[in-house]
Amino acid sequence: MVPELEKATVRIQQPERVLGTIRAIKEQGINKLQVISDFDMTLSRFGCNGRRCPTSHNILDNSRVISEDGKKKLRDLLHYYYPIEIDPNRTLEEKRPLMVEWWTRAHELLSQQKIQKGDIAQIVRESDVMLRDGFNELFDQLHKYNIPLFIFSAGVGDILEEIIRQANVFYSNVNVVSNYMDFDDNGVLTRFKGPLIHTYNKNNSVLQGTEYFQQLSTRTSIILLGDSMGDLTMADGVPSVENILKIGFLNDKVGVRSSRLASAPAFPRCEASGDSGEGQAAVPVI
Ligand code: C5P
Ligand code: MG
Repeated sequence: MVPELEKATVRIQQPERVLGTIRAIKEQGINKLQVISDFDMTLSRFGCNGRRCPTSHNILDNSRVISEDGKKKLRDLLHYYYPIEIDPNRTLEEKRPLMVEWWTRAHELLSQQKIQKGDIAQIVRESDVMLRDGFNELFDQLHKYNIPLFIFSAGVGDILEEIIRQANVFYSNVNVVSNYMDFDDNGVLTRFKGPLIHTYNKNNSVLQGTEYFQQLSTRTSIILLGDSMGDLTMADGVPSVENILKIGFLNDKVGVRSSRLASAPAFPRCEASGDSGEGQAAVPVI
């Protein structure tokens, strides 16, 4: 029914269940469907030719507008906190305060760099960011059939919007919730607006007041795309879910993370998966 699911890079814990969900989504039709997706390392690529691609934060961190001292401090934060973010041996309760610490410290450093709003487009153009293979088809088809795409990102909203704008896919059916920069009257970054979104609070707690999912209450079929365990809760604010297909891109530490997932009873709803964006074999599953 779906030839892509036969690929060697795809891991499915309960194939019958996945096929049943896909069948149900098809039967319900496109008018009932909405897509909820993470951005960094899900819609954007994790790697290319053996090198890491930048996250929306990294694009800023590595750009020419950041001082050498600022770059070093941001890199030190990344090297300290990223292994914690993806550590399968730590609980979410342990990780959450540390993620708040990382984001807060990084945003403070970025806010000291006098970043100009008018430089954002050039910063993105000069970066190594790449969108995942097939992004055009995904965005174009969702737009063509008027299917809402909700991008829920713990990255930097201004940067990710610019990425999809430059890729010519920032269509009217795309809505973004993310961390946005706050600029003063001279267009200089002074702080980030709240609420702070990090990897492990991507749920209804940061969407209160957006009304987004309420307006789409008749769209009860969901396709959810992510790369982090924190992405699993992105649809929690949807009032009535009838069918949900969760697709995870396991980009990093593929061996360790996929074997843990295969035996983890805590992930009964984690279904299909896809390519790493590296273009090589590997990857699966949230
Ligand atoms: O869009 P998404 O929710 O995936 O964005 C979060 C990603 O940004 C995480 O994977 C995290 O590793 C990364 N990050 C970063 N630099 C920071 C904070 C988060 O690269 N200062
Ligand atoms: Mg991500």
